[in-house]
Amino acid sequence: MDKIIIEGGSKLSGSVEISGSKNAALPILISTLLTDEKCVIRNVPQLKDIETTILLLEYFGKKIVKDNFGKIIITRNKRRKVPKEAPYDLVKRMRASFWVAGPLMARYGKIKIALPGGCAIGIRPIDIHLSGFEKMGANIEVKEGFVHLDRRQLKGAVINFRFPSVGATENIILAATLAKGKTVIKNAAREPEIIDLANFLNKLGAKIENAGQKTITITGVKKLGGTLNHSVIPDRIEAGTYLIAGAITRGEVKVNKCIPEHIDALLKKLRLAGFKLEQNSNSVKISHICKIKPVNIITSPYPGFPTDLQAQWMALMCVAQGKSEIKEEVFENRFIHAAELQRLGAKLSIKDNIVTVLGNSCLSGAPVMVSDLRAGAALVLAGLAAKGKTTVNRIYHLDRGYENLEKKLVQLGANIYRKIS
Ligand code: UD1
Repeated sequence: MDKIIIEGGSKLSGSVEISGSKNAALPILISTLLTDEKCVIRNVPQLKDIETTILLLEYFGKKIVKDNFGKIIITRNKRRKVPKEAPYDLVKRMRASFWVAGPLMARYGKIKIALPGGCAIGIRPIDIHLSGFEKMGANIEVKEGFVHLDRRQLKGAVINFRFPSVGATENIILAATLAKGKTVIKNAAREPEIIDLANFLNKLGAKIENAGQKTITITGVKKLGGTLNHSVIPDRIEAGTYLIAGAITRGEVKVNKCIPEHIDALLKKLRLAGFKLEQNSNSVKISHICKIKPVNIITSPYPGFPTDLQAQWMALMCVAQGKSEIKEEVFENRFIHAAELQRLGAKLSIKDNIVTVLGNSCLSGAPVMVSDLRAGAALVLAGLAAKGKTTVNRIYHLDRGYENLEKKLVQLGANIYRKIS
């Protein structure tokens, strides 16, 4: 298995370009199952999860042509009949595969999808998705590891989410786009990726209003067209990760091609931690001016502090001068990286959903193991700040979500390389 080797201790400096958002590209690509017309999507990052999504789309009757610059052209493969089942082998690779439920049920009626199951960051149920579909009149049965969905007469409904789940908001939008009548999602997730999905679907002729707000309204249409013109938004989690890379190495890093407003919660915390930030409409530059102050965070749905930057923030707090608290409110088991950070010399303790980081750690290189995508990012960041050699194992998790990670870090002056085995 490939490894990443880091010789830590260099201050990062320079600029880095942010790729298209993984979490926006995934539902957008999946949403093309709602139409037979041609869709051209740009700024799609080259990642393992995108490759998995392409396999999924091909399986469900799409023809995909992509170039090396993030452009993907999706048309209907007329020679392939759309199957009525999403097998476990395909769904297990990525939880977001379950997002095909909404569009496939809306278009084709009956569909059987393997249960996505849990993952390293928690059990991650799909009850919010399913109760939303049920409200819209779908018949749902869960048996033998599969969810059987039958749309019968899929109708608009008022759906009140018990929690603003990102995936459920997307899945219900996808189903409601071709349903009869009006669907109202209350307590919807407000993440920028949902706005991007709605903007894309509206280009195809959907009628989605107020995406990005707590209440979203979708008026069903009979059919969708195509678009030759959609560019995926920049990846806010990647942007945040590179800013923290600048912070943790006490360097000077500029992230270009990002939307600063999307990482406002992080920028506020970085300022409180004592960093200088220079913001433009599509870039942020971070520089280190004084000692790193400890700053507490509590993760929450957008616009709160993103759970997908919690692990990276923990790495930064390990080198802050004092004690901080990190509270995880989105996932129930998202601290596996804490034990790995301890291998590098971090001083921290875990109680329930709170990690207390003592700070003042002189990190030193060690072998570590990645448990999930963002945990992997945190370990790379800590390795960059640590003295000596850090070997990061199981980096396939990182390949799911960071385009050209080592290349971009080398460009910023990091001593990092991949050992292929
Ligand atoms: C998406 C992101 C992921 C991010 C997460 C939270 C994608 C592909 N992934 O994941 O990177 O960390 O949002 O910002 O966009 N839950 C339920 N029942 C459900 C659905 C969710 O209990 O039916 C719970 C989950 O277990 C979790 C919380 O709600 O504890 C948030 O999950 P959700 O917002 O759905 O995350 P994802 O869409 O899976």
